[in-house]
Amino acid sequence: MDTPNQILMCSPKYYGIEYEINPWMNTERQADHQLAIRQWQSLKQIFEELGVQILELEPVAGLPDLVFTANAAMIHKQTAVVSSFRHVQRQGEEEHNEQWLLRHGFQLKYPPDDQYFEGAGDALFCGDTLFAGYRMRSDAAGLQDIGRMFGCRVIPLELVDTSYYHLDTCFCPLKAGQTIFYPAAFDSYGRKVLRELVDDLIEVDSEEARHFSCNAVVLGETVVTNEGCPKMCRQLKRRGYRVVETPLSEFVKAGGSAKCLTLRLDGEDAASWSAETEG
Ligand code: ARG
Repeated sequence: MDTPNQILMCSPKYYGIEYEINPWMNTERQADHQLAIRQWQSLKQIFEELGVQILELEPVAGLPDLVFTANAAMIHKQTAVVSSFRHVQRQGEEEHNEQWLLRHGFQLKYPPDDQYFEGAGDALFCGDTLFAGYRMRSDAAGLQDIGRMFGCRVIPLELVDTSYYHLDTCFCPLKAGQTIFYPAAFDSYGRKVLRELVDDLIEVDSEEARHFSCNAVVLGETVVTNEGCPKMCRQLKRRGYRVVETPLSEFVKAGGSAKCLTLRLDGEDAASWSAETEG
């Protein structure tokens, strides 16, 4: 492949647990700052060793969750749908995301007025379908408009467990027709739809879901995720994947892990359009 995969990350220089907007966050259970920096650097190094080009968003004091670049936007080719955050604590991130994406040549689009949308945290392509989580963060009504912007089918999935408040905490497309998921994060209708639409659904159990096993970054045949997911690793290895586990405990304290710390700028591997535009 000529052009390297590109991932946007943001240094944890100003990262910490400064407020509580999901059940994982507890301001009395602070992240170890030095350890967070080391864990983030190891993650970055893993990507670089896999040949990925890392681009960095400048960290900003007072915006501790800016490290979770998955929430900056949803990328489709050269277009970025800029996030509109539900919680006021994260709304200050929007202008930094917007400026960065603009400076790097993306055409910007926005979710419909009054609709919250948290980017690649809640909207993930699998094949040519956009799977989109709603209720906790993104709003259901705006998702179809986003699908119309790109002429793609949207499958809205209601998230029912507050611990799995973004789709990427409980669902990870590996390639067209194949995803990892944590069933209890969805309602029975969502589970039924996923079973109908995805040929190979790899289930994780509640214990491994709590280790953010679904919050994985897929780079070809390699899956990068938090440590502590041996059962999922076995399932992936059986299907020919190589799993790279790396400790991300300090980010789990904010409700995030490997995938949340990244925004794939050239399109996720599982998106059929990223394969079309490759090379
Ligand atoms: N503390 C952040 C929040 O609650 C964590 C975001 C994790 N990001 C993700 N894509 N799941 O918004």
